[in-house]
Amino acid sequence: MSQDLFSAVDQFIGETIVEEDEALMGAVEAAGVAGLPAIQVSPPQGKLLQLLVRLVGAGKILEFGTLGGYSAILMARALPEDGRLITLEAKPEYAEVARRSIDEAGVGERVEIRVGPALEALPGLENNGPFDLVFIDADKVNTPNYFAWALDRTRPGGLIVADNVVRDGTLADADSADEATRAQRRLHEMLRDEPRVDATTIQTVGVKGYDGFLIALVEAT
Ligand code: SAH
Ligand code: DHB
Ligand code: MG
Repeated sequence: MSQDLFSAVDQFIGETIVEEDEALMGAVEAAGVAGLPAIQVSPPQGKLLQLLVRLVGAGKILEFGTLGGYSAILMARALPEDGRLITLEAKPEYAEVARRSIDEAGVGERVEIRVGPALEALPGLENNGPFDLVFIDADKVNTPNYFAWALDRTRPGGLIVADNVVRDGTLADADSADEATRAQRRLHEMLRDEPRVDATTIQTVGVKGYDGFLIALVEAT
């Protein structure tokens, strides 16, 4: 089993059931030209986000970590016309690239980018919720903090999805010294004792290597 094989399978999936259109390819291209790291969700993962948006009938989405706008474009496209997505990005220069790509993809009216560290943006979001879906994909050490905040602001029946929780399998290492890994372990331990959500983590391979995401359903109370 190898990275080449994981990538070949993602490529086949991309050629068949999750084809990218010009706007999505343009967003990746623009991000590359501007020097942004190519760490956006893979096309199959992005398609899963779209399906989740549709499954929960989301109208309000919050995203942590915009990068070049790739996942934001995908999720915004799955929203109804009057749906709204707010996405938080620490770096102004990334946000600028994302703004252009999101506008070019035709979903600019649905997407608001807030620039600055996400933790600082949160107090300003109190009047924007409750959210139907929250996608956590920013600085990984803060994933548990973002999750805790989101949990109080996601409607019953809504979803919180956290990317990059498996981290090459280091999630299983109780002695990991890596702060990002320790944060994902803490998140899982937090959820063990959290009656308000029902959750699972799915390990993934693909163009982005070996990782995984957590999906948490906020329980009706
Ligand atoms: N969701 C994107 C990928 C996000 S990559 C996609 O799939 O297309 C992670 C992003 O989080 C980067 O753009 C990084 O600049 C941003 N980020 C890092 N720390 C942050 C913070 N404290 N607050 C907000 N964004 C942050
Ligand atoms: C990184 C961030 C991501 O969101 C991701 O999916 C992969 C890598 C990173 O910061 O390296
Ligand atoms: Mg990610």
